[in-house]
Amino acid sequence: MQNCKIISVVGARPNFMKIAPFIKAIDKHNAVLQSGAGKVEHLLVHTGQHYDVRMSESFFTALGIPAPDINLEVGSGSHAEQVGHTMIAFEKVLKEHNPDWVVVVGDVNATLACSVTAKKECIKVCHIEAGLRSGDLSMPEEINRLVTDRLSDLLLTPDLISSENLRKEGVPEEKIRFVGNIMIDTLEANREKAASLDLGQILCNNRFDQSDPSASISVDKDYIAMTIHRPSNVDKQEVLEPLVDFLIREVSKEFKLVWTVHPRTMKQLKSFGLWKKIEQNSNIVLLQPLGYHEMLKITMGASIMMTDSGGLQEECCVLGIPCLTMRWNTERPVTLMEHGGASILVGNDIALIRNAYHTAISQKTQPSRPELWDGHTAERCLAEILKANAPTH
Ligand code: UD1
Repeated sequence: MQNCKIISVVGARPNFMKIAPFIKAIDKHNAVLQSGAGKVEHLLVHTGQHYDVRMSESFFTALGIPAPDINLEVGSGSHAEQVGHTMIAFEKVLKEHNPDWVVVVGDVNATLACSVTAKKECIKVCHIEAGLRSGDLSMPEEINRLVTDRLSDLLLTPDLISSENLRKEGVPEEKIRFVGNIMIDTLEANREKAASLDLGQILCNNRFDQSDPSASISVDKDYIAMTIHRPSNVDKQEVLEPLVDFLIREVSKEFKLVWTVHPRTMKQLKSFGLWKKIEQNSNIVLLQPLGYHEMLKITMGASIMMTDSGGLQEECCVLGIPCLTMRWNTERPVTLMEHGGASILVGNDIALIRNAYHTAISQKTQPSRPELWDGHTAERCLAEILKANAPTH
């Protein structure tokens, strides 16, 4: 077997859970080699899109990801700024290291920027989590997915619907491989540790208001968990304000609401003058962005998850937690109730959210595991890359 040099790329929080098992699979592969032949040489590049300890470093520590070999330090900015700065910096990395493959995951700006740069340098690209389609071009992630998939040499899909999406777009069959969902590898490897954590402790350690560190927070067994960050939900006051009113006037009257607040959302809540209103409500617990295990523990115990995160949609599906997906469409239809999953699309329409919320609270959802969401996707990803890397004659 010939050696293979891989550069894999991460940029933003949802990438870290996807790269952790992939790096473990590489280590495992190298550890069992009899000789040096067939070795995978691996470099991890972090574009630096997410840089706060809570948005980045804490995941490296919690998930045992080695420190990035190279950090491009692009930071925040407009889409063009993030993508442009990433491309300029990543091109230099490729020229210096000249890998056989660049592996990108998910659909963030790093995914797009690095796949385009690699193709222009004539380096093969593998996309893990290929073929997801929301059909909604107003989402930056949909643009990132379309471009990345169009350019990739190897498209590793999480479910059969995604494989079919690629076929419909004319992607040749030999480039498509159905491998399962790599995020579920991380879920399976960490759910026991998450379950052992103390909920009250998580709330105390991570709330925004640390003025009285000794004050305890109690949460009954029925609580609602929430996290939103999509521009379509948080960037417009006319959307965010009615939602906040609904949470204060209705949800918090019946249940404790545990809201983990993304930096984008906090910025917007403050700029619309909504932050104080929420902070003053004793039934709403506002938490800073959580580590992987802490968020998983909160999710596992919730009566309902209200979210616009794609990853949480998938985790709720496997855990059997009813998930009100605050989007009008999803690139992950396999997680929807009509496909046996736990998620209902509610957009940001209060009437719809209210209806779904009352239905979900009174209904038990069974955990559902789409095909190959079995905790072994990373090994299949690496095997497919090595197969594609082998000389054909
Ligand atoms: C990005 C991804 C989105 C993903 C999300 C997960 C793109 C196009 N979007 O959106 O797909 O679901 O990450 O979190 O790639 N900020 C901080 N600290 C940080 C990072 C960001 O305070 O470490 C703040 C900055 O004010 C920044 C804002 O959050 O402007 C938004 O960050 P950005 O990376 O532009 O997009 P996300 O909304 O996080």
